[in-house]
Amino acid sequence: MPQIKSPADLDRVREEIIAKRDPNKPCIAICAGTGCLALGCAKTITAFKEEVQKRNLEAKVDIREIGCPGFCEQGTVVVIYPEAICYLTVTPRDVPEIISQTIIENKIIDRLLYTDPNTGEKAVHEYEIPFYKSQMRLLIGNNTKIDSKSLDDYIALGGYSALAKALFSMTSEQVIEEVKKANLRGRGGGGFPTGRKWEECRNAPAEPKYVIVNCDEGDPGAFMDRALTEGNPHLVLEGLIIGAYAIGCHQGYIYVRQEYPLAVENVNVAVRQAKEYGLLGENILGSGFDFNVEVHRGAGAFVSGESSALMTALEGKVGEPRPKHIHTVIKGVWDKPSNLNNVETWANVPLIINNGADWYGSIGTEGSKGTKIFSLVGKVNNTGLVEVPMGITLRDIIYNIGGGIPGGRKLKAVQTGGPSGGCIPESLIDSPVDFDELTKLGSMMGSGGMIVMDEDTCMVDIAKYFLDFLTDESCGKCIPCREGIEQMLEILTYITEGKGEEGDIELLEELSEVIRETSLCALGGTAPNPVLTTLRYFRDEYEAHIKEKRCPAGVCKALISYYIQPDKCQACLICLRECPAEAIIGGKNQIHVIDQTKCTKCGTCLDVCPSRFGAVARISGEPVPSPLPAEARAIRVKQGRAK
Ligand SMILES: Cc1cc2nc3c(=O)[nH]c(=O)nc-3n(C[C@H](O)[C@H](O)[C@H](O)COP(=O)(O)O)c2cc1C
Repeated sequence: MPQIKSPADLDRVREEIIAKRDPNKPCIAICAGTGCLALGCAKTITAFKEEVQKRNLEAKVDIREIGCPGFCEQGTVVVIYPEAICYLTVTPRDVPEIISQTIIENKIIDRLLYTDPNTGEKAVHEYEIPFYKSQMRLLIGNNTKIDSKSLDDYIALGGYSALAKALFSMTSEQVIEEVKKANLRGRGGGGFPTGRKWEECRNAPAEPKYVIVNCDEGDPGAFMDRALTEGNPHLVLEGLIIGAYAIGCHQGYIYVRQEYPLAVENVNVAVRQAKEYGLLGENILGSGFDFNVEVHRGAGAFVSGESSALMTALEGKVGEPRPKHIHTVIKGVWDKPSNLNNVETWANVPLIINNGADWYGSIGTEGSKGTKIFSLVGKVNNTGLVEVPMGITLRDIIYNIGGGIPGGRKLKAVQTGGPSGGCIPESLIDSPVDFDELTKLGSMMGSGGMIVMDEDTCMVDIAKYFLDFLTDESCGKCIPCREGIEQMLEILTYITEGKGEEGDIELLEELSEVIRETSLCALGGTAPNPVLTTLRYFRDEYEAHIKEKRCPAGVCKALISYYIQPDKCQACLICLRECPAEAIIGGKNQIHVIDQTKCTKCGTCLDVCPSRFGAVARISGEPVPSPLPAEARAIRVKQGRAK
């Protein structure tokens, strides 16, 4: 194992690694990230290893287990180098063919390529696939080129050169100035200027100081930080070491939620390797700078991602927030100056140091520089991780990258900013995505959750969903958050159950104000956002629920009914057989009727009724028409059939 004791050593080691590698040797890069593991990629990886062994190709083919390449909708993703052929939805069954055709015969297997659903065109390489085309993958782009557990792979791609540059050709102050000039803003939610935070921590009078990586990532559906920490842990670690040097501290922590076992494993491997190579520990790269890192597994509560709660958890206590009259950069872990940044924030640092603040500043908008990773989920064709330049429009993300809304449905809104974010209506999707623009719209960037909603989404129900999550996740330490969110949830529940009253909207607004102003931490401080933005853009939906007892989207069970239209029913028995509540009356040649007293409103009848009949209707805000008597039902079908 190489001992790297100087920048020249690092260059030499890099050259040796590259020299040992044959750039023309086929390498099969297989996603081994958590998402694809859930899809069964472990079996695909084993199948590749066995097939390669069976054909005695071990010396001729490399197999690389990589982190998430982002296109989760089409996992398991396999990229074959040096041509970078991208195969999607690969299963163990495809493996023998990939080896015999692509590796041995050099032929492309058409059926495993991306097919454009509109044009039918095939795409051989990642960069030709619309999902990837409009992205700017500065941070996750290297995931396919790096074995998540290989420091050599990272070094071969120029890894740790930013650290060498910072340690040997920049003073700590210059590093901070560069990060300030790049206008890097924190990716964990608030968008606070990173360089300013570092400077405040550096200037704090007490010693020792700490630097911390926040990989708690509690937002439901978000996995940006997991993908980076699992897939390219050295990028995060390099950023952290540079930050430690800039701030002047010698101990760091990487806080990873326990529910991310692969991220915990890979980051532990990275720390061990960095120590062994001389990139962590004493006298890093011979610079005289000492820095150590410990990996801390968090208990995985959403609130523990909040800065003061996370620091309390690091101290071994329950991860609850504490008052922040004094900022954590002055009094953080063990009351010492502590600088906490999000995974993605740290990952940006090597890029800024290597390429300079001017380069970084050329990407993005006036107030938001660089790229942002989003987890694009919900009612969108291409779900997955997308990295885009700041300033891109929501339309570009949803349609060009996300491929639009499934089933030709209409877009209704997009929710950004995690559970405390907000819903932006379809009419505003040409808005650019950056910290300030999203805040102006009443939402926020948050850490990068982006949930697409179609016309079948009830916005009151959505607000209720997020408040339900936040009620569960509130630590209960302060009354406004503990009691207030629950009160708001209760009102929303009444509204969705048809028990809403005049004045409920005003009460929700009043409670929002109090909770926002008086909560101990930003969990309560931002919790009313889902209600406030849905009220701002979809107030008519609240009013319909309250005044007309109607759910316009047809979602709230208490306000909807299913009804079989007698003139359309063909008595085909399908809904009658499929109804799990046995709520459908009828028979052969008898128009079917739903017994409303038994109906659980699961919607199965609507789903299974053949579209050519379209006999089942979902109605809201109006009484269900009375059923025909049995005799009439039988006659009507006969008449219908006779025609
Ligand atoms: C309830 C709550 C949960 C949070 N969870 C996270 C998280 O999981 N990851 C994260 O980086 N920041 C989270 N934050 C934001 C952190 O408090 C903090 O602002 C952030 O880690 C700072 O890093 P940055 O400046 O790089 O954004 C959370 C904040 C709140 C109020």
